[in-house]
Amino acid sequence: MNEEYKKKVHKKYEKSLRKGERFWPDSIYKDLLVSFAIFLLLVGLATFIGVKPEPKVDPNDAAYVPRPEWYFLFLFQFLKYFPGSLEWVGAALIPGVAVLSLILLPFLDKNPYRHYSKRKVAITVMSLIVVGIVALTGVAVATTPPQEEVAVAGSISEQIVQGQDLYSVYCVECHGAEGEGGIIQGVEGLEGVELKPISSQDEMYTRNDGSLFDIISYGQPNLGMPPFGTSFGGELPPGDIDALVAFMRYTWDDRAELPPEAAQASAIPALGPDEVPSYEVHIQAISKRYCVSCHRTGKKNNNYLMGTYEDIVSSGDNAPVVVAGDANSILLQVIQRHAVTDANGNEIGVMPPTKELKPEYVDMFVRWVMAGMPETADDAAALATTATAAPEAEATPTP
Ligand code: HEC
Ligand code: HEC
Repeated sequence: MNEEYKKKVHKKYEKSLRKGERFWPDSIYKDLLVSFAIFLLLVGLATFIGVKPEPKVDPNDAAYVPRPEWYFLFLFQFLKYFPGSLEWVGAALIPGVAVLSLILLPFLDKNPYRHYSKRKVAITVMSLIVVGIVALTGVAVATTPPQEEVAVAGSISEQIVQGQDLYSVYCVECHGAEGEGGIIQGVEGLEGVELKPISSQDEMYTRNDGSLFDIISYGQPNLGMPPFGTSFGGELPPGDIDALVAFMRYTWDDRAELPPEAAQASAIPALGPDEVPSYEVHIQAISKRYCVSCHRTGKKNNNYLMGTYEDIVSSGDNAPVVVAGDANSILLQVIQRHAVTDANGNEIGVMPPTKELKPEYVDMFVRWVMAGMPETADDAAALATTATAAPEAEATPTP
C-alpha cells in the first residue's frame, strides 16, 4: 500500500480520535440505522413466520399456567428467590436500582477510552449481568412445567369442522341445518314458533363475531333462545363457541373468504356417477349435519339414533328403518317426503321435519341402501367394482 495514503488515513484517524464522537448526530445516526434494521427484521418475521396464537382467554380454565414472554423469564425466575414479604425486593427494589444505575451511567463512568483494555471494570460488570440473565432464563425454562395442551381447534378448518358438529348437535333443531329458520317443529316449548333465518345476509352483515359469540353465550332468554356458555349455565366452553362462530361466519357470510383446505374439510364429499357411497365418508357427514341434532338421546325421535353406523342400521321404534337393498325402507321413504304409517298406525312425519333434504343427499342415502349399506370407504369401493348391477335407475328421488 502506498505510504502517502497510509499517512493520510492515519492523520485523519488521529484527528477524529481527538475530536471524539458526538452524540448528535453521529451516535443517534448509528442507533437509527440499527433500529431501522431491527424494525425491518420484525416486519419480516411477522409477515413470514408470525406468532402461533394461544387459545382465547378462558376464565374457567384453572389449569392455565400464566407466564411472561421469554425475554422476561429471567425476572420471573429472579422473583422466585424472594418469597412472601420479601417480594418487593425482587420485584421493585433491585430492578429499580438496576434501571436507575443505567440512567446514571453517563455520570458515574466518565472514562473517555473505548479500548476494552481500558474498560475492564465496566465490561466485567456487564458480562456478569448478561451471564446472570442467561442463566436465570435457562433455569426458568427448565423448571416451569409445560403448558398443558388445551383441546382447542387451532386452524380455521379444524374450527369449522368442530363448529359444524356442535351446530348439528345444539342448534339445528331450532335454526335448521342451514340456519334457515322457519317454523319450529318437534321442540318442546317452541312448537310452531317461527324463527327468522340466522344465515341470511341481513344477519351476517349486522352481527359481528363478538355479538354472535355473546348471543350464543347468554342466549336470548326472552325470545326462547337458551344460553349455551358455561358461564351462563350452558354446556359450551368459550372455545366451542368460537368454533360455532367460525363455522357460521365461513359458511354463511358471503364476504368471508374460506381457505381452500377448509372448504374441503367441511363439505360433504360429492359422489362420482359410479361411486358407491359409504357410511364413513358420506352418510355420517349428512347425518351429522341434518339428522343427529334430533336423532340422539334425550330428543323426541322414536328412539332412532343416528350417531353411529350400528345405531343407524338397527335402532328405532320401527327398527329396522333401513334394510339393505330395500327401496321401501322407512328412512328412504321419509327423506323423500313420503309420510309413513308404522305397524301401530302412527304416522312418521317427513324427515327432516322442517326442511327438505337436498336431492343429492337423498340420492346418496338411496344409493347407499341399495348398494348394501357399506360402512367403510373400502367396503364401498369393493361393492362398486363387483356389484355392477346396483339398481340405481329407480333410485332417483322424487321431489
Ligand atoms: C331451543 C331452540 C333454540 C336453540 C337450540 C338455539 N336457538 Fe338460537 N334462537 C332461538 C330463538 C327463539 C331465537 C330468537 C330469534 C328469533 O326470534 O328469530 C334465537 C336467536 C338466535 C340468534 C340471534 C338472531 C338475531 O340476530 O336476533 C343467533 C345468532 C342464534 N340464535 C344462534 C344459535 C346457535 C349458534 C345455536 C346453537 C348453539 C342456537 N342458536 C340454538 C332458539 C334457539
Ligand atoms: C327437528 C328434529 C328432527 C330432525 C332434524 C330429523 N328428525 Fe327424524 N324424527 C324426528 C322425530 C320427532 C321423529 C319421530 C316421528 C315423528 O314424530 O314424525 C323422527 C323419526 C324418524 C324416523 C323413524 C324412526 C322410527 O323408528 O320410527 C326416521 C327413519 C328418521 N326420523 C330419519 C331422519 C333422518 C334420515 C334425518 C336427517 C336427514 C332426520 N330424521 C332428521 C325428528 C327429527
